[in-house]
Amino acid sequence: MAEVRPIQWRDGTVVLLDQRRLPAEETYVQCRRAREAARAIRQMIVRGAPAIGVTAAYALAAEAAHFRAGKVGDDFERAARLLERARPTAVNLRWAIERQRRIVASLPRDASPKLVRRALEREAARVMAEDIEVNRRIGVLGAKAIRRRGDVLTHCNAGALATAGYGTAVGVIRAMWASGRRFRAWATETRPYLQGARLTAWELVRLGIPTTLLTDSMVGSLMQHQRLAAVVVGTDRTAANGDVANKIGTYPLAVLARRHGVPFLVAAPTSSIDLDCSDGASIPIEQRDAREVTHWRGRRVAAEGVEVYNPAFDVTPAELVTAIVTEHGVVRKDFRRGLARVVARARRAGA
Ligand code: MRU
Repeated sequence: MAEVRPIQWRDGTVVLLDQRRLPAEETYVQCRRAREAARAIRQMIVRGAPAIGVTAAYALAAEAAHFRAGKVGDDFERAARLLERARPTAVNLRWAIERQRRIVASLPRDASPKLVRRALEREAARVMAEDIEVNRRIGVLGAKAIRRRGDVLTHCNAGALATAGYGTAVGVIRAMWASGRRFRAWATETRPYLQGARLTAWELVRLGIPTTLLTDSMVGSLMQHQRLAAVVVGTDRTAANGDVANKIGTYPLAVLARRHGVPFLVAAPTSSIDLDCSDGASIPIEQRDAREVTHWRGRRVAAEGVEVYNPAFDVTPAELVTAIVTEHGVVRKDFRRGLARVVARARRAGA
């Protein structure tokens, strides 16, 4: 089975697998300019924290074809700011743009647009390749950290589609399966955008891993009836103290996991750790369109006149997290110290 590659770089453009149409259709959208990529991120054509970072890195390389001689710095900043504003919660977006900003800053001020474009393209390719490698390392470390036998539950989509390929939380499930362990994956539907039902279920079934879909509200019942090996989720931004912002519904899962003694693991590339956020209260949470809740496939299902609460993410307090699995090691308990250590390792390794 061919690996899922949600982001491709072809002839100086960013080609995105349109995740809004999965699993029914596999269609692609081409972005020639940064503003097209920013729109694709806003519209969820591409989504998932690492994937939107990789997209932004390549979008800046695509935009560089339009940089003006002598105005490269200004043109870069305009595009960078447009992309940074596309979605607020996932810190990977800012992280990837910051990497490109450092590339521009490292070049002579009078560098030609062509030279800048080549340098941005090379860095975007590095961001992409590193992401896949990081996911594989998280997979191996996460699989080792889950010692119990039994099934694993995941939420939203932290798979190949949410990254450059392979996946973080789904990467852990894949690595467990590849190591010969046999179990069932449980994928929550993930209301209201259905990333679990549409995307995670699609990925896991393609991988040949036995998978059961359940609605978010069924997890309590599942845990009352079955002992799980672990819950493993991704993250959009993890604060310095270990508070974890991830898809709405993650926090109640963590509460249930604690109630039932199930280990709660977060698969977190260091690119999604934000040491500038001291705790979860300072993580900006995206509020999304009410129609995601009131409508089903364009048709209204909720009563007219009702008001809607639709935050895209919630924050799971660090005290409910058993372990944060990064590419530079598994952090437990003293998250503040452990997260600072793994981020320092990543910086030394050049990220
Ligand atoms: O709104 P989405 O679909 O972009 O939300 C995605 C998630 O919450 C993922 O769990 C997170 O980005 C980690 S992806 C490796």
